[in-house]
Amino acid sequence: MTLLTEFRQEHLVRVQTEMRSFLRQQTTDELLLESMLYSIDAGGKRLRPLLLLATIAGFGKKITQGAYQTAAALEMIHTYSLIHDDLPAMDNDELRRGLPTNHMKFGAGIATLAGDGLLTEAFHLLSRAELTSELRLLLLQNLAKASGTVGMVAGQAADIQGEGKQLTLPEMAYVHQRKTGALFTFAITAGGLLANQDESVIALLQTLAEHLGLAFQIRDDLLDVTATKDQLGKNVGHDVALNKSTYPALLGIEKSHQLLATELAATNACITKLQAISLIKPDLLMMLTEELTLEVQA
Ligand code: IPE
Ligand code: IPE
Ligand code: MG
Ligand code: MG
Ligand code: MG
Repeated sequence: MTLLTEFRQEHLVRVQTEMRSFLRQQTTDELLLESMLYSIDAGGKRLRPLLLLATIAGFGKKITQGAYQTAAALEMIHTYSLIHDDLPAMDNDELRRGLPTNHMKFGAGIATLAGDGLLTEAFHLLSRAELTSELRLLLLQNLAKASGTVGMVAGQAADIQGEGKQLTLPEMAYVHQRKTGALFTFAITAGGLLANQDESVIALLQTLAEHLGLAFQIRDDLLDVTATKDQLGKNVGHDVALNKSTYPALLGIEKSHQLLATELAATNACITKLQAISLIKPDLLMMLTEELTLEVQA
């Protein structure tokens, strides 16, 4: 068993338990609870919690209950963003995480509210996390910034407005860095903050996350063109159908692969720099980065 597989098995179950038990405790409406848990239990790669927890482990620190709660809040925000992203008024998708999308199963009204519920309860959970009040407040602010109107929501708004347009490369990077990169940045910098790292390390973690987040969305755009529905558990060819502004649409497949490789190399360069200024064991982070390279070629 690889280190990463072991890490997944040991820690993700705790994140899952946090999400489920908090939502159960807090929700009185049965249908709303069913709808939120439907999307949470559908799974997904859990990449953002993994990055957060792997960063803490990389610095040799113990993963505390407060860290699991932070990772759970982050995955709840990500899951909400997918439910809303799939709505008929947005990407109008029918398949997600190998299952019918939330609105296909529960209708657009309940799906919208399931997203609202996950978003709100994520902040509720983090506000009650077992952390010092200073760190809790900082993480709350960072999560709000990453998911809100300068972060993911801003990126999603720009993504919609980019439909049918030919964006420039910097404009595309703007969209991708916000809609996807911002939550990656939260994941990795929160890991650093939970591991008690100083500002220079956090700044480098931020740069690393920005490259990785951009790489991830370039890869997502490529997979929409090159992979199959079964491999992804979501529909493919959708970006072209919606006339989305993507890297493959702008640059073609080969150049997009090159850009993906460049971003992943920049991510690895940050990991090397981190080793020079801090006591980090980079194995887990490197494995996660490598997985992104491999899956595109599969
Ligand atoms: C999909 O994210 C949406 C993007 C930001 C590209 P993931 O590919 O991480 O989705 P799950 O969590 O594995 O379902
Ligand atoms: C979604 O990007 C990003 C967010 C949900 C914030 P996409 O629209 O490309 O994601 P998929 O391809 O539907 O998973
Ligand atoms: Mg979208
Ligand atoms: Mg989509
Ligand atoms: Mg996509």
